[in-house]
Amino acid sequence: MRTRICDMLRIKYPIIQGAMAWVSTAELVSAVSNAGGLGIISPLTDRGLEEEIKKTKKLTKKPFGVNLPILSPNAEEIVEEIIEENVLIVTASVGDPKRFTPRLKKEEITVMQVVTNVRHAKSAEKAGVDAVITMGFEAGGHVGGDEITTFTLVPSVVDAVKIPVMAAGGIADARGFLAALMLGAQGVQIGTRFIATEECIAHKNFKNAIIDAREDSTTVIGKDVFPARAIKNAFSAWFEGLNAEERTMQAMFDTEKARSALIDGDIENGAVWCGQDVGIIKEIKKVKDVIDEMVTDVVGIVGNQRFPYAPRRKS
Ligand SMILES: Cc1cc2nc3c(=O)[nH]c(=O)nc-3n(C[C@H](O)[C@H](O)[C@H](O)COP(=O)(O)O)c2cc1C
Repeated sequence: MRTRICDMLRIKYPIIQGAMAWVSTAELVSAVSNAGGLGIISPLTDRGLEEEIKKTKKLTKKPFGVNLPILSPNAEEIVEEIIEENVLIVTASVGDPKRFTPRLKKEEITVMQVVTNVRHAKSAEKAGVDAVITMGFEAGGHVGGDEITTFTLVPSVVDAVKIPVMAAGGIADARGFLAALMLGAQGVQIGTRFIATEECIAHKNFKNAIIDAREDSTTVIGKDVFPARAIKNAFSAWFEGLNAEERTMQAMFDTEKARSALIDGDIENGAVWCGQDVGIIKEIKKVKDVIDEMVTDVVGIVGNQRFPYAPRRKS
């Protein structure tokens, strides 16, 4: 099964593993790329970006990408590292696509921008990105302040731009994958499902928290600061209880609490960032099995063809 995005990224299946701060390391990234998808390295891992890229290159000969959090204080350094290491694909998020797209395009790097509404999708297209990743409000981690869910966001963006659209947020199995293709997406970006895999370095308590959670177990904290989805626990209650001055992005992400659940397994006092799709994730699997099952089941339903269907639109 192929879409335009497979040709653009030179990958077998239109499945991207979304960057996940601290845990999208070489282990997960290479497993996804070796299974035919596209792994994305986070520059926020303990090993650091340079080492993570070098390790990934040792573990896979397939394409992989790096995430560029545009608002990050060291975004310039990340861009230079990406160019220095000849990384060919970037997913940019959280920030103005005009800031780095021209520089990355000059180096012939494929740039995809994560967006959460039509307005941002259009400005990303105008800035020259190659594709947009539309991320619905169901997603894990930082979510859009407009609270638009995947089912509405994807076709709205598909109707508004000419570049390929990837769907993210709430997609964890073949049902979500096929639905995204039917909505006009050229493929999917997946986060939470890939944490609950053998290859992801996330602590086993975090993986088990995903397996045990229900569809109503998550909440969005910091709606007035930087909305982000996590499981309801002591961390989410603590953050929501802070006064206005204390409720900062720094308190949310740049603290031991932000990473301690993922890395050290403190799933009560740490942030358990994940999407509403925890409700349909029931088992820790190998990355290859997650991807193979998604592709096999979709092909089983609709055959091995080029996607997406082109719906009647823009009449
Ligand atoms: C633990 C966690 C950390 C994340 N960190 C980042 C990040 O650093 N950069 C980014 O662009 N997206 C980040 N995301 C979003 C994912 O890349 C992806 O778009 C999202 O998880 C998709 O929704 P899903 O979790 O329902 O699959 C993160 C998501 C999670 C769950």
